[in-house]
Amino acid sequence: MKITLAKTAGFCFGVNRAVNTVYELLDNNKKVCTLGPIIHNPQLVDELEKRGVRIVQQPLETKDDEMLVIRSHGVPRSTIEQVESAKINYVDATCPFVSKIHKIVSEASLNGNSILIAGDSKHSEVIGIVGNATTPVYTFSDENELSELLKTHPNLTQSNVTVVSQTTFNEKIFKKCCIFLKKVCTNAIVFDTICNATALRQQEADKLARVNDLMVVIGGKHSSNTSKLYSVCKASCDRTFLIETADELKAEWFKDVQNVGVVAGASTPARIIKEAIKTMSEIVKPVDEQVEELNTVQKSFDEMTDEEAFEASLNNLTSDQKVVGIVLAVTPTEVQVDFGRGLTGYISADEYSFDSNVNLVEEVKVGDELNLIIMRINDQEGTAMLSKRRYDAIAGWDKIVAAKEKEVMQI
Ligand code: F3S
Repeated sequence: MKITLAKTAGFCFGVNRAVNTVYELLDNNKKVCTLGPIIHNPQLVDELEKRGVRIVQQPLETKDDEMLVIRSHGVPRSTIEQVESAKINYVDATCPFVSKIHKIVSEASLNGNSILIAGDSKHSEVIGIVGNATTPVYTFSDENELSELLKTHPNLTQSNVTVVSQTTFNEKIFKKCCIFLKKVCTNAIVFDTICNATALRQQEADKLARVNDLMVVIGGKHSSNTSKLYSVCKASCDRTFLIETADELKAEWFKDVQNVGVVAGASTPARIIKEAIKTMSEIVKPVDEQVEELNTVQKSFDEMTDEEAFEASLNNLTSDQKVVGIVLAVTPTEVQVDFGRGLTGYISADEYSFDSNVNLVEEVKVGDELNLIIMRINDQEGTAMLSKRRYDAIAGWDKIVAAKEKEVMQI
C-alpha cells in the first residue's frame, strides 16, 4: 500500500507564528494566557496548559503578571481597545493575512460601503472581521444564502458593497458566489481574501482525493480549515476519514486499499502527523518511503523560524511552478506572456490582482516582466494559466510580517 502525504500538511505560516510567539514568551520565563485556545488542536493546547498557559475568555481575566496573546484568528477592534484601555500587557499574534482583511473592511466602512463576508458567522475570525466594520455587515456561506440575503436586503444590489472572504473559505464556492454577485450587485468590490496557504492546501487535497482509494484528514474536529479539507476530500473520495490523533485509526478502513492520501489542517502539529503515518504504516506494512520523507520534512519544519516557514511556503510550490513571464499582449480581460517553455501563458484579470476592478490595459505594458505561478498546463492546446495574484500573496508575506513585527515591538 502506498501512503502519500500532502506537501502542504501541517502548520501554516500564521499558526506557526502564533504558536512560536507563545513558546518564545514561555522560554523567556513570562506567564502567558491566550484569548481563547491558541489553535484548534486539543493536544497542543493540553501541552501548553502543562507549561502553565491559561486560556481566558475575556481580556479582563488577564492577571497583572501575565502576558495576553491574541491568536492568529484576530479579534474585533473593540477588544484591542479594551485591552489597551485596561493597560493589559499583550502580544497581537493575528495572522498578517487576517489583519489585511481588517484593514480592507475598516477602510471600506470609512467610505460608507456595506460589507459582505463569505464565511461562517460564528467563527472567531469572522467575528473579528465583523468587529472591524462600522457599517452594516452581512455574512453568507454559499450561493443560496447569498441569494436569500439579497432578496431580504434588496438595497444591497444598488448600494456600494465591499466583499471579502474568511481566509479558510472554500475557493470553488467563493468563485461561484462572485460570479452570481457580479450579475446582481453592480457596485460590488470583491477582494478574494482566501489565504493562499488554504487555497493550495485545498487544491492539493482535491488532487489527492481524486487519485487515492482512501483519504485520511488529520486535524482538530473544531478546526474550520480541517472540516473544509474533509468536505473537499469527501467530494471526490467516499472513503474519507477525519481523525484528531493516531489512535482513532481503524485497521478495517485499510482493507483492500492500495493507495492512501493524507492531508492535515493548518493547526495540526507535525508530531501528530508523524504518529498517524507511523500507525498507518504499522497497520498496513511494509513501511514505505513516504515515512522517510515525512521524517525529514516535518522535523525541519518544527524547527523553522518565521522567515524559514515563509521560504518553505514559497519552496513548496517547487521551482517548476514559479516562472518569470514577459508580457506579449494585454486585453481588458487577460494578459498574454512568454515564460520560456514553448507554451503560451495567460493571466486572467482575476489572477492578475486582488483588486477585482483592476484595469489591465492601464496597468500592464508589453515587455513588462512578471513573477508568476503556474496554475494549469494544457499540453494539447500548448497553453498555461498563470497567476500573479497568488505569487504576490506569498511573496508579500515577508513585507507584511516585517510591518507586523514592528507593531508588536511597539507594545
Ligand atoms: Fe494565516 Fe492563512 Fe494560516 S490566513 S493563519 S496563514 S491559513
